[in-house]
This record gives sequence, structure tokens and C-alpha cells, in this order.
Amino acid sequence: MNDLNDFRTFGHQMVDWMADYLGNIGDYPVKSQVQPKEIIDKLPLHPPDIPEGMDRIFRDFREIIVPGMTHWQSPSFFGYFPANSSLPSLLAEMLTAAMGAQCMIWETSPAAAELEERMMEWLAEMTGLPAGFTGVIQDTASTSTLCALLTARERATRYRINDSGFTGHPVFRVYGSVETHSSIEKAVKIAGLGRENLIKVKVDGQYRIDPVALEDAIRRDESRGFVPLCIVATLGTTGSTAIDPLDLIAPVAQRTGTWLHVDAAMAGTALLLPEYRWMTGKGIEKADSFVFNPHKWMFTNFDCSAYFVRDPEALIRTFGIQPEYLKTVTHGRVNDYRDWGIQLGRRFRALKLWFVIRSFGVNGLRQMIRQHIEMAEELEQRIREESVFELLAPRTLNLVCFRYHPPGIDNPSEIDRINEKLLQALNKSGKLFLTHTRLNGMYTLRMVIGQTRVDRHHVIRAWNMIRETAARFGDL
Ligand SMILES: Cc1ncc(COP(=O)(O)O)c(C=O)c1O
Repeated sequence: MNDLNDFRTFGHQMVDWMADYLGNIGDYPVKSQVQPKEIIDKLPLHPPDIPEGMDRIFRDFREIIVPGMTHWQSPSFFGYFPANSSLPSLLAEMLTAAMGAQCMIWETSPAAAELEERMMEWLAEMTGLPAGFTGVIQDTASTSTLCALLTARERATRYRINDSGFTGHPVFRVYGSVETHSSIEKAVKIAGLGRENLIKVKVDGQYRIDPVALEDAIRRDESRGFVPLCIVATLGTTGSTAIDPLDLIAPVAQRTGTWLHVDAAMAGTALLLPEYRWMTGKGIEKADSFVFNPHKWMFTNFDCSAYFVRDPEALIRTFGIQPEYLKTVTHGRVNDYRDWGIQLGRRFRALKLWFVIRSFGVNGLRQMIRQHIEMAEELEQRIREESVFELLAPRTLNLVCFRYHPPGIDNPSEIDRINEKLLQALNKSGKLFLTHTRLNGMYTLRMVIGQTRVDRHHVIRAWNMIRETAARFGDL
């Protein structure tokens, strides 16, 4: 298709489809019900030699692709952490795609670079970050954390590993808790630091890092000749949204001269609420880097990760490159974001943030986030009142961790097995979608309330289904 009139016709049809899809999303099975290979078997082995009509392509999208999708925007999607989106964000993504700009440097689209700069200032203000943080949009928190580790590594070696490799450098250590996200381990591997040099410190009864054990581990390493490089504090662990005590960790980072990176991938959005700023406390003033993902809970389409650094010069020294063909006369006077991260080419991600923040207003965003937390609070209360269910972690925000504990069954692996089967049965129903983790060795059901269109009745309906399905499982 190369005709603008056809584009207009199909564009209108597809926007209509999108509106219908989002309007009726509750009718789709939340988790795709297809079997492995079911989709690929419907796809031709070879690409077409001659053009195909958009009507046929669009029909196949509806008939082959949509049934193989898990509907992340369903209000009954309670799994993982959300990747919620919103109508203004979706519109911005369409415009971004229409312009198709590759925003690697200021010159390749000044508006993209300057909107990104201003959006990062807005986000810093909205989340109450202290003065002195500068932001850049990365694709994901995994990338942001990798940038943090690479910058920490380069700063610690006066940028020499970038120049001449690891030879002659000490063994560096990175610290997080046993509950830190797997992206930290991945970043440690990619940064060439060695997986064995990620030290996972024990947590307290609320799954928060134990700051005394953290300092002990660092001191022990120092006495053995290792060089402590970075501490990763998590605000909102993936398992249970535990909040590592930043106020106690920051002094440890200061005393031991380590980089302090704060991973608030999902929970960072709650910092929009002044009543949740205790999560960053005073400790944030000592952090070197901070990441949160508007693409998780701030109604902004995946992908959009807000990465903030204390010292943008260190970031730019770590990632900067100056090939002849990218030299510009404006360099140094503007932000050329290719030097602020790993990739050269960059999507125009700031537009969707601009649309979202303006369209909802900060107060509108706050209201939705507060409602999610209130719904989680009510769910927690309902679980507490039910004798055959147990809460397995304190609820901080919008995630409730629990399990079914049928009367008379006390064998831990038997309880695990029943909960695993319960989860599978719930997800197979297509009516709701939950995921699991292990907390303290126990198989744990996680229910996260963070969808753009989730309402109280969706949560209550899901809870009733969980209870009814569990009751049927009681005699397993
Ligand atoms: C605490 C935490 N950090 C990092 C990540 C990784 O996020 P991303 O998919 O943006 O890399 C997640 C994902 O859920 C997370 O929960």
C-alpha cells in the first residue's frame, strides 16, 4: 500500500478497531489461550513475492495475531507489574510513528531533544527529586541500570576501562538484596564485572535490605582486596514492593565511597503522591542515579524509562562518541542524547509523556494512582478476613501477595503445589491474570492493581473468582 487515500481509509478503520478493542477489552481472555506453535503454524513459511492487500493483512491481524495476544490493557490483568497505557499516550505513539524520526542527536530533531529535556524536568518535579538531578529517557529500567553500572565502573577507574580494558584493575563488587531484580544481575554480567561479584545481601522480615548486613559485606570485601563499586537500592521490589531503607543505605554508600543507584522501576510512580515521598526520604539526596518507568504505572506506552543522574558529565564521558559524520556545530550547546546511553538511534519517546502529563494533569494522575492503592488496600482487607487465605508480605502500594492455605494441609510443598494449580486454573479461565513469585521459599500469588481502566468491581470479581476456584481445589 502506497496510496495516501488507502492509508486514510485503513487508518480510520484501524482507529475504529482500536477504540472497539479497548472498549470491549473485558470480553477477551486476558491470557492468550493458544498452545505453543499454534500461531507460527498459521503463518506462511515464505514471504509474499507480490503485494498483498491491506484488507487481507488486517483480517489476518484480527484472526491470527489477536487471539495469540495476552491483553495487558485488560482491567483484569493483575500480573507482573503493569505496562499500562492510555488514550493520549496511544495517540502520541501514532504521531511518533507517522513522523518516524530517529532522534539520536539534537540536529536530527531539535523538538525531540528539547521536549525530552523539559519532560525530564517535569518528571523530576512531579516525583519530588531533589535539585541537581538531570534526566534522560532510556528504553527500559534494565538499560538504565546498565548505564548506571557502566558509569560507576568508568568513574571509579577514571574512564580507563573504556580505553584499555580490564587488565590491571581490581575486582569490583556490586551490592543489592536477595530481592533485587534480575536486571541487576544481567547488568553486572554485561558490564564485565562478573556475576559472582554481585553480592545479594539478606533482607529483613519485610523483604527490605538489611543495611547492617550490607555494610558488613562491604567491609568484609574490602579487607579481602575487592573494591566496592555500587549499591543498588530497590524502591518497590518485584516480589512484594518492599522499600529498601534509602535513608540508612545512603550513609553506607557515602562511608564506603560506592555509587548509589536507586531502582524504583514501578514504585517510582507513587512518588507523584506527596504522602509516599517517605520512600525516597533524605537518602535520595545522596544517590548517584535513580530510575523509574512511566511505562509501568504512569499510563505511558511501553517503552519509556526515566533515568536520572547526579553527574551528567560522567554519563557522557562513559558513552560519548564523536564519529566524523555525527559532528555538528551545535555540539556542547544542546543535549545530544546519543551520548547519554547505549544506543545511537533513539525513538521519540518524550511526545507520549507530554501528551499523558498534559492530558491527565498531575492531579489526574495522582487520583488514578491513589485509587489503585485504595483498591489494593481493600483487597488486602478482604484477604485478611478470609481464614483460608494468608497474606505473605506487607502491602506497601498496589501489590498484594497472598496464598491459599486449605485447612488441614500443613506440608509446605503441598501448599505450594495447590497454589500453583490454583494460579494455572485462574489464568486458564481467561477471566483474570495473576502471576507468582516465591517469598521466603513460599509459592506466592501476586495481584497488582495498576491498570488504566481497572475499577473496584474488577478487583472484587477477581477476588470472588479466586475464592470460588480455591474452594473447588480444597480437596486436591
Ligand atoms: C524492580 C524492577 N527493576 C527493574 C525491572 C526491569 O524493568 P524493565 O522491563 O523496564 O527493564 C523491573 C521489572 O519489572 C522491576 O520490577
